[in-house]
Amino acid sequence: MATIYREIDANLNVLSGKTVGIIGYGNLGRPVANNLRDSSLRVMVGLREDFTRDHARDDGFAPQDIESIIPRCHILMLFLPDEVVSEVYLERISPFLARGHLLVFASGYNIAFGFVEPPPFVDVGLIAPRTIGEAVRSRFLDGSGFYSFVGVGQDATGGTLETLLALAKAMGSLRAGAIEVSIDQEAQLDLFVQQAILPAFHHVMTTAAEVLLELGYPPEAVMLDMIISGEFTDYLSRASERGLLHALRLSSLTGQYGIFSRLHRFKELKLEGLMEATLDEIRNGDFSTEWSREYENGYPRLTRLLQAQEKQTLYALEQGALERLK
Ligand SMILES: NC(=O)c1ccc[n+]([C@@H]2O[C@H](COP(=O)([O-])OP(=O)(O)OC[C@H]3O[C@@H](n4cnc5c(N)ncnc54)[C@H](OP(=O)(O)O)[C@@H]3O)[C@@H](O)[C@H]2O)c1
Repeated sequence: MATIYREIDANLNVLSGKTVGIIGYGNLGRPVANNLRDSSLRVMVGLREDFTRDHARDDGFAPQDIESIIPRCHILMLFLPDEVVSEVYLERISPFLARGHLLVFASGYNIAFGFVEPPPFVDVGLIAPRTIGEAVRSRFLDGSGFYSFVGVGQDATGGTLETLLALAKAMGSLRAGAIEVSIDQEAQLDLFVQQAILPAFHHVMTTAAEVLLELGYPPEAVMLDMIISGEFTDYLSRASERGLLHALRLSSLTGQYGIFSRLHRFKELKLEGLMEATLDEIRNGDFSTEWSREYENGYPRLTRLLQAQEKQTLYALEQGALERLK
């Protein structure tokens, strides 16, 4: 069973006198920097010369070059896109690392797949929120907190877990809770959910819409019933609070009978094999190698895939329905 940490398990005193360097001020870096500062921590922001510097200045930080903040920080939290981390780490972070530094990643990706290999004299940890950056800030402000995965990658000082938990508390995560996992597990789970569940969901939704539209059902009615009404959001929200079975049981008896009596049709799709193949590709590093090549070449396949998606008439109909209904 996994260990779950809550506020009582962390001591903010371990952070006293320490400076936290936030590297990257995008979706997640920005809310974390603000949460930590609101928890009275000393925070510095390190960025390249680019547009997120303005966001940091707007929020009252004085952003500096990444390399210049490293010697002045005890803890370095990386909030850069996964595919750029290894390059930035090699050029702007690793030459300036010293004994006692703690490197904190927001995703296990680069450590798990070997793109970053920190020296043995630094501590390495993971605090990976299980929600989007916006919610990291709003749930800090409303006091509800958000779930995270925490993990120790390297423990040179012997105090890595204690410091990670204090940081997770200061970020606001421990009000909900943090589950301890290995860095490999976090990286694999994250990719698996993205690659095994979301494509299936997307495919089911678009196929259903295409079938209904082809048969002449009005686009507004189809889109409303499938997504715009928010019924799925409510369903998933109940499932996240009380479990999938509870959410299923909230449907009418007609609905429940329809769901359970037709479930086997989807079992015939042999999803297990597809999911195992997806997980194999993630675990043996094929996916991360493919994604690195994609980044080095300037995202050619991603660009083509996005363009192909955008051309689907379904999305235009969806936008039309949204405009008429919202
Ligand atoms: N997004 C989320 O809600 C979320 C949730 C959980 C975990 N995470 C994890 O958090 C990490 C950060 O994700 P994110 O969504 O916050 O990323 P993001 O918004 O795309 O991050 C952008 C930041 O990275 C900087 N950056 C981009 N390319 C750079 C480069 N080549 N050199 C230096 N700086 C560069 C950008 O600076 P410029 O202004 O200079 O471009 C900006 O400050 C990832 O590991 C992700 O898996 C994200």
